[in-house]
Amino acid sequence: MPPRGGPGLHTCGYREAILAKVRATVYHCTECGNQAPKWQGQCPGCGAWNTLVESIAVAPASRFQPLPGGRTPVLELGSIPATDAARQPTGIAELDRVLGGGTVDGAVILLGGDPGIGKSTLLLQALAQIGQTRAGLYVTGEESAEQVALRAQRLGVADSRIGVLAEIQVEAIIATIRETRPKVVVIDSIQTVYTEALASAPGSVAQVRECAAQLTRVAKQLGVTIILVGHVTKEGAIAGPRVLEHIVDTVLYFEGDTHSSFRIIRAIKNRFGAVNELGVFAMTDRGLRGVNNPSALFLSQHQAPVPGSCVLVTLEGSRPLLVEIQALVDDTQSASPRRLAVGMEPARLAMLLAVMHRHAGVSCGNQDVFVNAVGGVRIAEPAADLAILVAILSSVKNRPLRDKLIVFGEVGLAGEIRPVQRGQDRLREAAKLGFGTAIVPRANDPRGKIAGIDVTPVARVDEMMQNLWA
Ligand SMILES: Nc1ncnc2c1ncn2[C@@H]1O[C@H](COP(=O)(O)OP(=O)(O)OP(=O)(O)O)[C@@H](O)[C@H]1O
Ligand SMILES: [Mg+2]
Repeated sequence: MPPRGGPGLHTCGYREAILAKVRATVYHCTECGNQAPKWQGQCPGCGAWNTLVESIAVAPASRFQPLPGGRTPVLELGSIPATDAARQPTGIAELDRVLGGGTVDGAVILLGGDPGIGKSTLLLQALAQIGQTRAGLYVTGEESAEQVALRAQRLGVADSRIGVLAEIQVEAIIATIRETRPKVVVIDSIQTVYTEALASAPGSVAQVRECAAQLTRVAKQLGVTIILVGHVTKEGAIAGPRVLEHIVDTVLYFEGDTHSSFRIIRAIKNRFGAVNELGVFAMTDRGLRGVNNPSALFLSQHQAPVPGSCVLVTLEGSRPLLVEIQALVDDTQSASPRRLAVGMEPARLAMLLAVMHRHAGVSCGNQDVFVNAVGGVRIAEPAADLAILVAILSSVKNRPLRDKLIVFGEVGLAGEIRPVQRGQDRLREAAKLGFGTAIVPRANDPRGKIAGIDVTPVARVDEMMQNLWA
């Protein structure tokens, strides 16, 4: 008897398995939520382009365990026992600072960063430290177990008692976690992990989201801390860590220039602690070493003051940091002058140039303006305004500022200089590092004298101009 389904079609289990997978997969629109049985360029519901992503077509009840006893009761807020999440230090002080004191049981942490910046190095070091007191598991999807062992040898942690698992199937990883019950698991990286339930390739938006969701459920269920490594990618082919930011509890990003040895870790989101804390590391052949006094990193070593250089005290989380702002203003060679800001907002630079023209009477209309924060650091706070303005003025006038001067303050469009938070802490940090004079907003003028530093308070840009070279 000929096989059912006509010639060329198999009735074997393989075809059934493929069909089952196809049936279990649907596509839904990220804009309107409309479902389609197959992928299309345009959503049939809302007409948006490239918004259909693959997802699993199973009833929610089969993916989530029903709670015993039926529906969840409504609780009175005051009657819920609230215990503060206990923090377990990782043993790496700079990492603990960014995490808000350490890891929390059941938390999912995402560590993102450019390729080769040191994600695997840091997490292997951290896990080796954690392994001294708690069980740790390092799941490697990118490197073989031997490569991990080789790195551990270089980092001097080869005798650590952590487990290493070379596996990329999320179901197998979860089964191992359930069996071996580690307290901390590192998944390196989430983009290499895949689930059998989806047909798309590892690293696609659907795979990354589904695997992270499955791992998150396990983390909450078993109280295990899971750290996911995510590559920041420029193309859309591999989903970047941004698609996971809302799923996880804590988001950390590695920053810094891969050409210099300094690395910065910044918390973007933390459900268990403050954000915008900064951890500073130096990359050495023995791995990443925490830097206790990072202020010195972001200052150039000039023998004598040079034009276009101004030192700013910025606040990163709880820690004041001294950062050098450099500016270069030069005659333009093109019809439209260039304005380039590295490490800060280009829009703020344009605004400051307008304020400088209007309130200080200095114009850069036919000149290129380049501004850079030394050391690859990124400054988001408006307290940097005054330092950027002063650095540009110093370059325009080709006059160096007085030695050992620090500047901070927000500049308003009306030419006023607004106060910034924790001015005294900033001044104390500057005094500690040997800076003897400061130009600060009037409202930040400390009532008592701060030892070792002379403070010049200014209220407006024109007043600052009078005091700058006084
Ligand atoms: N022998 C060595 N001496 C000094 N530094 C080294 C040495 N080997 C590696 N490194 C540093 O470690 C970095 C690689 O670190 P790591 O593999 O942890 O990065 P990663 O962020 O995990 O990268 P990937 O995206 O490839 O996974 C290199 O860029 C280099 O700076
Ligand atoms: Mg790596």
